[in-house]
Amino acid sequence: MYVSRPQPLIAGNWKMNGVGASLGEAYMIAGGLGDTTARVAICPPATLVQRLAEVLADSAVLVGGQDCHAEEAGAFTGDVSAAQLADAGAALVILGHSERRAGHGETDELVARKVSAALRAGLEPIICVGETLDQRKGGQALAVVTGQVRGSLPAELADKRFSVAYEPVWAIGTGLTPTTPEIEEVHRAIRATLTSMFGAAGSGVAILYGGSVKPSNAAEILHADEVGGALVGGASLKAADFLGIIQAV
Ligand code: PGA
Repeated sequence: MYVSRPQPLIAGNWKMNGVGASLGEAYMIAGGLGDTTARVAICPPATLVQRLAEVLADSAVLVGGQDCHAEEAGAFTGDVSAAQLADAGAALVILGHSERRAGHGETDELVARKVSAALRAGLEPIICVGETLDQRKGGQALAVVTGQVRGSLPAELADKRFSVAYEPVWAIGTGLTPTTPEIEEVHRAIRATLTSMFGAAGSGVAILYGGSVKPSNAAEILHADEVGGALVGGASLKAADFLGIIQAV
C-alpha cells in the first residue's frame, strides 16, 4: 500500500513567552504565509490560546497548547485539560516536551495518558522525544528515542493524525544542531518504529525536527530524509524568523 508523504508541519512553541502584545507577531505570521504548502501552527502559553485563536480565526494558522493534563477535569490546581484547550480554540497540543519531562517529571507512561486525553478532546498531538548529550555520547541516542516513541504513543493513535518531534535535548535553545546525517539516522529509526507499531499508517506520520531551527539552517534540515517539518522555539517568537523557516519548506 502506498501512503503519501505527510504534509509538512511547522509549529512554533512560544514556551513561557508572550503577553497580549505578542499577538501582533502572530498576526504578521498569518499575513506572511504566502503560498506555503506547509501546515503552520503556533503554540502560545495557555493564557493566550483563546485570544490567539480569535486573532487567527480567518487564517490558515492553527493554534496549539504546550501541555495538557491526563484527566478531563477535577481537583488539579494550576493544570489545564485537553478539553479546555479545545474549548479555547486549540487544534493541536505539544506533549512530552523535554522541558516537561525534565522539569515536571513526566514519564513515557504519563505522556501516553496525556496523548489519550488529547485524542478524546479532538486535539492533534505533537509528541516530543529526544536524547540528552550524555546519552548521545554514550551511543544510546537511537535506543533512547525509539524507546520513548514506543512508550509515549498509545495504540489508539493508529487511525488519528499526529506527529512526532525529534528534539535532541542538547540542541534546544543552544544554537547547536546535529549534523544532517545524524538527524536522518534518528528520523529513519523513528519511522521504522512507527511502521512497526502502526503498520502502513506509520508512513503517513510527520516526523518533525526541533532544536535550534532558524532561517539559516531550515532549508537543509527540512529537506533531509524523513524530516516532515519543524518544532521551533526561540525563532518562532519573531514573525520574520518564523516566516523564514516556513518559506524554507
Ligand atoms: P529552540 O526550541 O528552537 O529554541 O531550540 C525548540 C523546542 O524546544 O521546541
